[in-house]
Amino acid sequence: MNAPAPDTIRPIRFDDGRLHLLDQRLLPAESRENTYDDPQAVAEAIRDMVVRGAPAIGIAAAFGVVLACQRVRDSSPAAWRPAVAKAIDPLAASRPTAVNLFWALDRMRAVIDGCPSIAEACSATLAEAQAMLEADIAANRRMGATGAALIEPGRAVLTHCNTGSLATGGFGTALGVIRSAWGEGRVTEIFADETRPWLQGSRLTAWELLRDGIPVQLLCEGAAASLLRSGRVGWVIVGADRIAANGDAANKIGTYGLALLARAHGVGFMVVAPRSTIDFRIGEGAEIPIEMRAESEVLGLGGHPVAAAGARAWNPAFDVTPASLIDVIVTDHGAVHHPDREGLAVLQRRPGD
Ligand code: MRU
Repeated sequence: MNAPAPDTIRPIRFDDGRLHLLDQRLLPAESRENTYDDPQAVAEAIRDMVVRGAPAIGIAAAFGVVLACQRVRDSSPAAWRPAVAKAIDPLAASRPTAVNLFWALDRMRAVIDGCPSIAEACSATLAEAQAMLEADIAANRRMGATGAALIEPGRAVLTHCNTGSLATGGFGTALGVIRSAWGEGRVTEIFADETRPWLQGSRLTAWELLRDGIPVQLLCEGAAASLLRSGRVGWVIVGADRIAANGDAANKIGTYGLALLARAHGVGFMVVAPRSTIDFRIGEGAEIPIEMRAESEVLGLGGHPVAAAGARAWNPAFDVTPASLIDVIVTDHGAVHHPDREGLAVLQRRPGD
């Protein structure tokens, strides 16, 4: 098979002065868009996982800044700047780990700084957020092609969490590579971890692949060791929320365990993320802030309590995979094999956003 990778889902759109987000908490049972005209509500949507995935969080926050400008359109020349700055604070506080959020907000602040009036800020921030959304999809397609070319045909792949259209502007990062590799006939089977506690794998990755006609097999995280020992899988392919300057990569909790398993079984381990996910100000993974989420997410399932009454839970949303366990980081500015500080510095110097 050699067909263009199917890609039909767009989780974020801005229309008629309002932001529309596909509510990812409801999938796959219900496909419903929520509409926002208030930046505070967008911050809450990010915190509450209506929209999630590092690039998607950044893009949604950028549109939140557009809404912040629109709401103070009639303010005096002295009042609009501080009002917009204040509205950005809750967006920045919504989730701590994905650096794409802070990268996107910094870009929006720079646009606002260059605008002499609120009218110009309204149109310039909208143009910037739309450009960010479109550039993200284009970057994902480039990463898809780069990553797929590294996959020798004839084996399966395993992925974790959701890194697809739902986690980005569209197409996806790690799942974009898998879409491309599937379209090129390089991949025999696609396995996805269910990804406790939010079940991004079984709810979101499976939903979006099946909608695009791509078959997927789900497994409990605990089954990954046996799958990798079976010899069926050639690559584990995952995304990232923040990559330190030395190549250590934070991603959904459980990724580090998969990297250890991949190394133990001679399976390749690929991280796929746009260059905007690399935080060159952070020297190593230990400095990446890891979000801790509510105990109730682990103690229950789909909102229903399942754990024994009185049990406590430890619920970090992300973990850090050391660069030494990563075979290749694929970005929109090229791939870095055996990533380390020097390899990433070369990537940093490449031209382009
Ligand atoms: O908690 P989530 O669902 O926002 O976590 C998402 C992930 O960990 C993804 O793997 C990562 O953001 C990369 S998405 C292209």
